[in-house]
Amino acid sequence: MRFDKKVCLITGAASGIGKATAVQMALEGGRIMVIDRNPEKGQQTVDEIVKAHGTALFSQADVGKEDEIKAAVDLALRQWGKVDVLVNNAAMMTFKKILDLTAAEWDQVMAVNLRSVFLFCKYSIPHMKKGAIVNISSVHAHESTANVIPYASSKGAMEAFTRGVSLEYPHTRVRINCVAPGAVDTPMLWNNPNVKDGKEKTTGEVGKPEELAAAICFLASDEASYINGTTLVVDGGRLDIL
Ligand SMILES: NC(=O)c1ccc[n+]([C@@H]2O[C@H](COP(=O)([O-])OP(=O)(O)OC[C@H]3O[C@@H](n4cnc5c(N)ncnc54)[C@H](O)[C@@H]3O)[C@@H](O)[C@H]2O)c1
Repeated sequence: MRFDKKVCLITGAASGIGKATAVQMALEGGRIMVIDRNPEKGQQTVDEIVKAHGTALFSQADVGKEDEIKAAVDLALRQWGKVDVLVNNAAMMTFKKILDLTAAEWDQVMAVNLRSVFLFCKYSIPHMKKGAIVNISSVHAHESTANVIPYASSKGAMEAFTRGVSLEYPHTRVRINCVAPGAVDTPMLWNNPNVKDGKEKTTGEVGKPEELAAAICFLASDEASYINGTTLVVDGGRLDIL
């Protein structure tokens, strides 16, 4: 039971990789705060965990909004009094070339994908005695396609942020790492117009959400006690996405 009684905050846990991670951590004894902007699907994740005799609560939050992030952390603290694990997983994409992109669209991607990671860390770390943070990046931080520049930039910055935060705390107090998925079988992949029209290839190399959850749970667990400030690419070896 790697997460026995541990308080685990997971954003974007209503679907895909976040949901698979929530279910796995709950199976291993974690108390899960399912954080998502989608209340119906978020509640479904909670119901599945509770049905399997796990512990979970839903907190509706748009991670682009600071007051909603703070409220989600506060709810976990009121319920369980601490934070042990934080998984920053919620994200969004745009599909426009930069000349067609507005400043508001750029700011929105940065708020949801990057500023949220800073704010969840800012509000959670003071309540972590021995915490582990896993930020969900993407292979796009390393090798990207045209028309997803805000997304790729936010993920590249997330990896730099992660390395920086790892220097601010001893690894025995807070560890922080990234997982960078390749193509994973979730709504986000199949709704991506670059995937639909074949610009971004996925043939034969699509991972399952549970395969990502396994890597995230490893980095969030004490098994990874000496791993800090790095990125684990989990892509079936497909980093070349073009
Ligand atoms: N699926 C892939 O192929 C793939 C590849 C690389 C990286 N990733 C990354 O994995 C993570 C999870 O993606 P997924 O594929 O599981 O997606 P998904 O669409 O299955 O789930 C994303 C969840 O995030 C929630 N969400 C989105 N914006 C939000 C916001 N502003 N506030 C709160 N919740 C919000 C959605 O409601 C949804 O429940 C993302 O960070 C994504 O960038 C996914």
